[in-house]
Parts: sequence; C-alpha cells; structure tokens
Amino acid sequence: MCGIVGILGTKPVADELVDALRRLEYRGYDSAGVATVENGHLERRRAEGKLKNLAARLNDEPLQGHAGIGHTRWATHGAPNERNAHPHMTDKVSVVHNGIIENFREIRDALRAEGAEFSSETDTEVVAHLITSEMRKGDGPVAATGRALKKLRGAFALAIIFAGHDDLMIGAREGSPLAVGHGEGEMYLGSDAIALAPFTSQITYLEEGDWAILHRGGAEFRDRAGNKVKRRSITSSASGFLVDKGNHKHFMLKEIHEQPEVISHTLTNYIDMTSGEVAFPDTGIDLAKIPRLTISACGTAYLAGMVAKYWLERYARVPVEIDVASEMRYREAPMPEGGVALFVSQSGETADTLAALRYAKAQGQRIFSVVNVRTSTIARESDVVLPTLAGPEIGVASTKAFTCQLATLACFALAIGRARGTITPELERELVQALTEVPRHMVGLLREEQQYEEMAPWLSKAKDVLYLGRGTAYPIAMEGALKLKEISYIHAEGYAAGEMKHGPIALIDENVPVVVVAPDDELFEKTVSNMQEVAARGGQIVLVSDANSDKVGCRVATHLSVPSVHPFAAPLVYALPMQLIAYHTATFMGTDVDQPRNLAKSVTVE
Ligand code: AGP
Repeated sequence: MCGIVGILGTKPVADELVDALRRLEYRGYDSAGVATVENGHLERRRAEGKLKNLAARLNDEPLQGHAGIGHTRWATHGAPNERNAHPHMTDKVSVVHNGIIENFREIRDALRAEGAEFSSETDTEVVAHLITSEMRKGDGPVAATGRALKKLRGAFALAIIFAGHDDLMIGAREGSPLAVGHGEGEMYLGSDAIALAPFTSQITYLEEGDWAILHRGGAEFRDRAGNKVKRRSITSSASGFLVDKGNHKHFMLKEIHEQPEVISHTLTNYIDMTSGEVAFPDTGIDLAKIPRLTISACGTAYLAGMVAKYWLERYARVPVEIDVASEMRYREAPMPEGGVALFVSQSGETADTLAALRYAKAQGQRIFSVVNVRTSTIARESDVVLPTLAGPEIGVASTKAFTCQLATLACFALAIGRARGTITPELERELVQALTEVPRHMVGLLREEQQYEEMAPWLSKAKDVLYLGRGTAYPIAMEGALKLKEISYIHAEGYAAGEMKHGPIALIDENVPVVVVAPDDELFEKTVSNMQEVAARGGQIVLVSDANSDKVGCRVATHLSVPSVHPFAAPLVYALPMQLIAYHTATFMGTDVDQPRNLAKSVTVE
C-alpha cells in the first residue's frame, strides 16, 4: 500500500516528512517523494528506491517550505521510477494518492482535449490537472477540489497542497484510510496514525467520502456532498506499536474496513492498470502446459481455493482437484507428471498445509503458494510465491486476507487462461475491469453497515443457521457459516443450495435462519426455488442479493442488498456481507471477536 503524510508546520517540513514516511515503510514501496509550498510556489523532490535516496536528494537540494506532503509509492499505474513517483503536480496543485482511480483514462482524455500536458503514466497526475482545471474556471482551491472529487470514481485517499496557499492542505478519503492529526499550531495528514505518532496522538479518522480542509488552526470536515460535518478525535496508541485498531472496536472490524485499500493494493500487484490486463510475474513454468492443478489449504484459505477452482475450470479450462490439507496429506493421492500444486495460507505456517505441500513436492509437483507472510515457511518451500498484500491480519477470523487471496487467485486464473488461449483479450479486459471495481463496491456496502447491526439481536438467538449458495456463491456461503460459527459460537453450516433437498431441508422450521447467497446471475432462478422450499416450511430467509425483492417470489425475513456486480467479481464482494453478519452478531453477543475461544491465528500443529 502507498503511504501518505502531510504537515502544515511552523518550520521547514521536508525532513520531518521523510521521517514520518519511514514509519510507513512496513507498507512496502519502490519510490518516494515530497513537495512543499515555498514562497508561494510548489517545489518537489522525488527518488526511485528507498527513502535514503530521497533523503540524499534533499541533502543535495534542500526544500524550505513549512507546508508539505510526502508519499511512498507501490507502483500501480506506470513503472516504479522517479517520473512516476509522487507527488504529482501542476503549477498550481500538488497531490499524493493511495488506491485506484478507475476513471482516470476518461478524465485524462478530457483534460488533454483542454490542452493539459501529462508527464507521467499515473492515474494520480490526473487529480492535479483536474483540480487545476476547476481552479481555472474561477473556483478557489477548496471549491475546485470539492468539484473535482465528485468526478473521481474508485477507492483512494488524497493529500493536496496549493501554490500561494501555505496555510491550506486538503485530504480526501474514498475507500483508503486517511487520518487528520491535531498539533499545537500545526496540523497533519497520514495514511494511518502510525505516521503521525511522532507529531501527535490526537487523531481524527476521515469517514468514507469525507474530505478535510486543514489550516494550522484546525480542520473543517465535509461529507461526500460537501456538507460540513463533525468528526470526533481520538487519542491514538499507535506510537506504542506498529499496528493498532485505529478508531475501530476490534482488529477484525478494522481489517474488514481495510479491504477496499488492500484489495486495490493486491490487484495492482498483478494487473497493469494502464493497459487493463493481467501482468503476472514470470513464474518460470509454462502455464499453458499444466495438465492438472491441485489446490490444498485449511479453513477460510481452503474456501478461497474452492472459489478459484470454479474460475480456473471455467476460464482457464484447467482440471482442478481440491482438498483440505489435513486430508490431502494422508490420501496418498496420485499426482500427474508435470503437475502444479497450489497452497493457500494467510500465515504460511499452517502445519497441515505445509505437510500437504511437502507431500506434493515429493510427488514431483511444482509448488505455487498464495501467502500473506512472504517470509513464512510455506513461502520458502515454494517454487513460486504469489503474495497477498493484505498487510498484518491480527483478528483470528480471516477477512482481508481471504478477499486478497481471492483477488490473487482471480488474477492467477486469468494469467493461465491467457497462456492457454482460453480467454480473448476482450474477455480478459472485461474481467480485469470487474475486479478493479470491487473496492468501490465494498465502500458502498460498508456505508450500509447499519443493517447488519440491526439484524444481530434476532440472529443471535438462533441455535442453528444454514447458509446456501450455488456456483462460486457456494464456497462463499461456507465462508459465511465458518465466520459465524468461529466468532459467535452459533452452529452454522454452508451448503450447496441444490443439496438442500438431499437432507438439510429436514432441519428447516421457523427457528432456523437460512442465509441465501444469491447474486442475480444464471443460477439465481434455481436458488429462488430452493428459497421457496425453505419459506414453505417456515424457514427464516436472510437473502443476500443484488436482485429486486419482487424477483424472489417468496417471503424473506431480511434482504441484505448488494450492488450488482460482474459474476466474476461476485465472490469478493459477497464475502463482505458474510463477514459483517458474523461480526455484528458476535459483537452483540459479546464474544471475544478478535480472539475467539479455542482458536489460534495460525494452527502450527496437526
Ligand atoms: C479463518 O477465519 C480461520 N481463522 C481459519 O480457518 C484459517 O483460515 C485456517 O486456520 C488457515 O490458516 P492459514 O490461512 O494461515 O493457513
């Protein structure tokens, strides 16, 4: 993830910006830069590589301004070089950015038609030119920024400074976190409280869609529509340790809310956002010639593998066998010559998964792994590591790691599909576009979190809950059941909806909530008939769907609406309601959401 820092200071800020960026190095980056307002002009220094290169540049060419922004960049649009490093700027505006601006191409084309000249391949530079264009229409910096923000689509965080305004800084949040720091006669912006810890512990987190107008005397907060709003400040504990809960009650909730940002980050690691195509690292293995792919994992990671099986078989036409690692390691399954085995693991230390990996390696398979900890044992014993860039996941119940696993596996499926010629370039771009829209859809869902809180008291009374789904919604239904049982301790089962009549329907009565995961896709009608069978027996249906209620044709207890998304992206988007149902039910029940009883974050024993 990129790191953002801003300081409205009372002395030269360039070196302080670099120091603050050092506290964000854990996020990973490949270039960095700072910009300041100096004697009314914007000046910047940027450098490829590590912060020491930027510090050397500043040593050779110091900056004096007392207002400035800084950025560590993980390359998304455009190569990781100085030309693409942030801050990006015009003569009037300088900006740093974290996340994805989906519609940057159309905005760039429109601005080019107005005569704007771009010097980078980045989506970020579009923001500087867009605000400048609005200012040229006569708007001041604040009004111009407000108008520009309404034209941007995607999941992003921004920090902006303006020539001639050395007591003004604007921050905006749409999907990627951003915090305002309150100092003594100084004000700050940061991607998180960690960056601001050296300056202040008084933090205000912007909410989705917020933007903040900073002066040295304080900050004014606006919502997406531009209305003035109040936002409370908290005392952050970030100075104590690298990871804190921010302004969330639990790590799990913080990590649920981080998903738009970290999914963007994971996607941009495997997608060339400029061309809209998958940009996979050279694995050294001819993906076109894989005779079969074996997938193995545990728990939530296994369910990510189940979703991947549907994608790999449908789009890459590669036969996939999947099994939980604790079974795979003892089955003595025969494995094909030249086969590939893929292991999914957040921790990269799960004993069963590691044992299954070693079995597959002994069978001559090439080993791929999707892990969140790149230094883990599973990563070290793999031939090819596909990292998820979810950042540290502290909550025992896996959330952001799961959706980042799905993002990685979706890109893997497209990479194999392209290698095997089973998807056209047009279909690849369509599916990549669907993935890049996921963060924005998640932001929309998180804005409606209230409905999950309202449902919790009713669901918390259940003794048994059934989750149903078809196609890729089936493993998502299983993930919903796993989330609920592991943090609320309510018994829950995930089932293929078509299997209902082969047994589980015996469970149905008015005391059994049935969560139906039903994107309005080719299987929706089939799932509706299952729902009608449930309703006819008094089952209490919780419908999770983008379909209109009138398409359902039977009574539902609750309809949790989801944005209409491409079927390819549905598993990532529908994972979020599964997490929120479990989180708010467990929170209502008062269980230890971050450290549920009997569970460990990484099961390193059999
Ligand atoms: C998921 O919420 C659970 N914490 C658990 O099922 C977990 O997914 C499983 O133990 C696998 O862990 P890993 O991804 O670290 O290998």
